[in-house]
Amino acid sequence: MSRKISPLALGGASLGGVYHPVPQAQADAVVAAALDAGVNLIDVAPYYGLTKAETALGVALRGVPRDAYGLMTKIGRYGDKAWDFSREATLRSLDDSRARLGVEFIDVLQCHDIEHGDRRQLVDEALPTLRALKAQGAIGQVGITGYDLALLEEIAVAEQVDTVMAYCTYTLQDQRLGEVAQRLAAHGITVFNASPLGMGLLTAGGPPDWHPGHESVHAAAAEAARRCTELGADLSFVALQFALQTADEAGIASTVIGMSKPENLRQNLKALTTPIDPAVLAVVQAALAPVRDLGWDVLPGNGGKAGA
Ligand SMILES: NC(=O)c1ccc[n+]([C@@H]2O[C@H](COP(=O)([O-])OP(=O)(O)OC[C@H]3O[C@@H](n4cnc5c(N)ncnc54)[C@H](OP(=O)(O)O)[C@@H]3O)[C@@H](O)[C@H]2O)c1
Repeated sequence: MSRKISPLALGGASLGGVYHPVPQAQADAVVAAALDAGVNLIDVAPYYGLTKAETALGVALRGVPRDAYGLMTKIGRYGDKAWDFSREATLRSLDDSRARLGVEFIDVLQCHDIEHGDRRQLVDEALPTLRALKAQGAIGQVGITGYDLALLEEIAVAEQVDTVMAYCTYTLQDQRLGEVAQRLAAHGITVFNASPLGMGLLTAGGPPDWHPGHESVHAAAAEAARRCTELGADLSFVALQFALQTADEAGIASTVIGMSKPENLRQNLKALTTPIDPAVLAVVQAALAPVRDLGWDVLPGNGGKAGA
């Protein structure tokens, strides 16, 4: 992307009703507030709410000058267990996304959750198709997303992609993306940290029912939230202070946060600059220490269901 990316990006999964239903007026309000506040990068996917998020975002972006924001969407994932990295599906998906979003140009088109799709199709069909679209000027950059950091790194370097988005792996609970991001950044690859709240894990309300983490991870996060409340602090705020304020040194270009409520956006923007209270951070880190870096690839929970 030619523009300077904002350190906080708006994640579109929430707009698809992944966490709770979101009326269009609320989607309009959060998108407008984000753009007003200087957030200039939005991530979405056909999978979020099975096209609902792209449709809602398209409505919210009507009339906004196209150069006011960078737009990232995805190809390849079309249902809870539906991946298709074929050339035909990739081209069709891009056309459908453009129509829903009401734009011609997609700044970053990403292969969604690469660890679940067919690797041969990914490498022989989806990625060459995206590279050709980039050469034609239909998209700006080629990206991959997912949870499996080793696979993301291997494919990113071998296929010389422009961007990598990993999720739930640079949070107060799991920081495994940190060293991977530094290596990727050294290759000139732009790294996005998605789900810095661990898909709702590090919030006072706790994760949604479908969250794939182990119950011991959920219990530790609930304890961290309780201790924060005792100290008059908010776990989400501390979690975002950590993710946003240490992103640079970790090699992360932008942190992609799901927000459907303007008040959450306002709070999260404050977390960019409010100095971390070391006493609160220490208490949260102590509560999370027993489950540090225990992602669901290490310690599966909830039937191992895949997330956003
Ligand atoms: N494989 C992939 O490509 C992949 C995977 C995961 C995520 N992503 C991207 O990353 C984005 C972020 O991930 P995510 O949305 O799943 O998870 P997240 O950002 O970790 O958490 C989002 C949840 O946290 C809530 N929240 C946000 N700010 C809050 C605050 N200040 N206080 C309390 N709760 C707050 C949101 O609530 P409200 O909605 O009610 O505001 C939402 O329920 C996604 O939207 C998507 O764009 C990509």
